[in-house]
Amino acid sequence: MQGLTATLLRGTWYMALPGSAVKAGATVARTLLGEPLLIGRDKAGVVFALRDACPHRGIPLRYGSFDGETVTCCYHGWRFDRTGTCVEIPSLREDQQVDLSKIRCGALPCVERNGLVWIYFSRSGEAPSGYQAEPPAMPVFADADAPALGIVLPFPCSTDHAAFGLMDPTHAAFVHTSWWFKSKARKLRPKEKAFEPAPFGFRMARHALPPQNIAYKLLGANVTTEISYCLPGLRIEEIRGDRNAVVGLTAITPVSEGETEVHQLFWVSMGWAKALRPLLQHLMTVFLDQDRVVVVQQREGLVHDPKLMLINDADTQARWWMRLKSEWIEAEAAGRPFENPLKPMVLRWRS
Ligand code: FES
Ligand SMILES: [Fe+2]
Repeated sequence: MQGLTATLLRGTWYMALPGSAVKAGATVARTLLGEPLLIGRDKAGVVFALRDACPHRGIPLRYGSFDGETVTCCYHGWRFDRTGTCVEIPSLREDQQVDLSKIRCGALPCVERNGLVWIYFSRSGEAPSGYQAEPPAMPVFADADAPALGIVLPFPCSTDHAAFGLMDPTHAAFVHTSWWFKSKARKLRPKEKAFEPAPFGFRMARHALPPQNIAYKLLGANVTTEISYCLPGLRIEEIRGDRNAVVGLTAITPVSEGETEVHQLFWVSMGWAKALRPLLQHLMTVFLDQDRVVVVQQREGLVHDPKLMLINDADTQARWWMRLKSEWIEAEAAGRPFENPLKPMVLRWRS
């Protein structure tokens, strides 16, 4: 059962940070999947990710400098390009021959797509290939379209508990209560939703949203939504009306086996939404922080390693999540392709 830590999947892309968080000619240090990284953008605008440790004496490269092309270590001035290859050792004299191309700090595959920086965490140094050749693309919007809104919060929990929160249909009435959203003690209603397998996950099949809701009216008539969940921790919601569309991404990125960053991003086709960014991002933060506070409290219980349970159908998606992860790990161990073990199913609950 899921406790304080989770098994982290490798051989896949993780959303590291929004592209806007790393300016041209700058670097940012981040620990992801327990690995210290230096994520940068060269002066031509290309993003890269280096292992944040100098191969000479191990000091983190983040203490050095970046000139827009190469990172210089703060200790003895060795310089590395964005592929992680050493290009200069200042102490060498002309007659001292060293093959610099063999000296590497190590770089991870790093791609910017939909305004997000994705990093591939390999199993054993392999390059991304097959279905994992590229990071996932957002629906509706072009690769060059950056999100209009984005927030991130640190969650002191494993990726499994963060994922359970994402796909938990029955906590909202108890956790997400505010004057502007849902007030407390609201009556629970019976719900029924059809689910189907999707690449590396499952999706709540496209269904109509209530036409009387003012927020959905902004998208036009016939507003529908489809919500997909996929490994290693992505929830993609695509809401479409006959005039406008909104795509929401929640990305669960492990900092370590027991800590997680939760990113929430929205792409919107209505240009005016950017003008409301401060207000909308504030509301998003209030909402996501309610989830964060719950996992902080949950942690107080999990340290005692209690026995936990998952019930039907409210927690069926959480069960699916664990089955998908097991299949990923088994397929990897057997050296065979991932086979989605899920079948179409209707889930029922009250929320
Ligand atoms: S430790 Fe980095 S150059 Fe010596
Ligand atoms: Fe929530």
